[in-house]
Amino acid sequence: MFTLNNPSLSLAQQLDAEDPLVSFKNEFIAPGRDGAGDIYFLGNSLGLQPNRTREYLHRILDDWSSLGVESFFHASEPWMYYHQKLAGPLAQIVGAKESEVVVMNNLTVNLHLMMASFYHPVGKKNRILCEAKAFPSDQYAFETHVKHHGLTPEAAVLEVSPRQGEHLLRTEDILQTIRDHKDEIALILLGGLHYYTGQVLDMEAITREAHSHGIIVGFDLAHAAGNIRLSLHDWGVDFACWCNYKYLNAGPGAIGAAFIHERHHKASTPRLAGWWGYDAATRFKMEKGFIPMAGAEGWQLSTPAILLYATLHASLDVFMEAGWEKLNKKRRLLNDFLWSVVTNAFANTQPGTLEILTPTDPTWRGCQISLLVHKNGKELFEHLLSIGIRTDWREPNVIRFAPVPLYNSFEEVYRLGEAIRRI
Ligand SMILES: Cc1ncc(COP(=O)(O)O)c(C=O)c1O
Repeated sequence: MFTLNNPSLSLAQQLDAEDPLVSFKNEFIAPGRDGAGDIYFLGNSLGLQPNRTREYLHRILDDWSSLGVESFFHASEPWMYYHQKLAGPLAQIVGAKESEVVVMNNLTVNLHLMMASFYHPVGKKNRILCEAKAFPSDQYAFETHVKHHGLTPEAAVLEVSPRQGEHLLRTEDILQTIRDHKDEIALILLGGLHYYTGQVLDMEAITREAHSHGIIVGFDLAHAAGNIRLSLHDWGVDFACWCNYKYLNAGPGAIGAAFIHERHHKASTPRLAGWWGYDAATRFKMEKGFIPMAGAEGWQLSTPAILLYATLHASLDVFMEAGWEKLNKKRRLLNDFLWSVVTNAFANTQPGTLEILTPTDPTWRGCQISLLVHKNGKELFEHLLSIGIRTDWREPNVIRFAPVPLYNSFEEVYRLGEAIRRI
């Protein structure tokens, strides 16, 4: 056993030498200069391109050119059933049953679809509970749904905030807000892992509390899926949506996904429907009267986007080859190492120059660390970029580092610390 308190180069190299996933770095293409890949700590924004994505895409293009529409049934991997390759691995990653996961649309579209199914304001029980400073797309979804129901966002959107002088939400405050407003809340929809601070919420406790008052709970898992361990089914979460272009490496604007707990898999659950969610056995009879497919697939709307499925398929194959359990183990170690590198590098900084926004307790954070830099933050970000270390800048003064277990090494994290220390 070694301690991570002294994150030296030799410790980083030892950790890399012992890393069973070290070769997976070669499965990805990192942007860079002069043929060398930069150090890429932006898995929280757009994951890197797997080498094999091109080949998976070409397979679809070849089928299209040689078989045309016949590819739906006669391609080597028939398009009609292609989506079935995706739900299984994703279900493992988010802790769900395969029938509870569907790959479709994009994240914001899916948030709207889920709200159409699960936000039913009645009388004074009409409010949506969310976190203050939710991702803007989520805020616009809340705003437009409440207006659609003839309500105002000021009255119907209830935000829970960190306490004065704090950056993180306290679980006890979320639970207390639910209790205080139990007769007004129609839906709880929170970011399971906050994009700005990197805080993981106690989704299990929130779901339990909400259900004890008969309130539906959903999560936006854009920053959680493929990053942290989730148990959506066992926690009893009603629904969740996520994108697959961050930690899941399926490419810009990749196809999104949703989880709908099996308790809602009833034809009577309200939804906005399209023909691709229609009972597969009778879909092509093209008759009136919507009959949904049995599981989460019953929420599909449109003809499948096979090219987008292919990029997700490529990246999920890499995930499954690496193994979700091994990835979780490495993520924890890599993040602990990052934490000690960052705190060591900034140890001699003047007080008040910066704050770490992300929770200290590793249980409540994923791959990411967010720093609030009060002075010269943009200069730090630009300097790192100039020496080939790509990180993420959020106005006005937050820098985020997100080393991911699939393609980042301990030595890269060490080099980040050295670069900061030299500045
Ligand atoms: C937390 C969160 N929610 C929603 C979105 C919007 O996703 P999309 O543009 O795929 O609809 C993002 C995008 O980064 C996000 O980070």
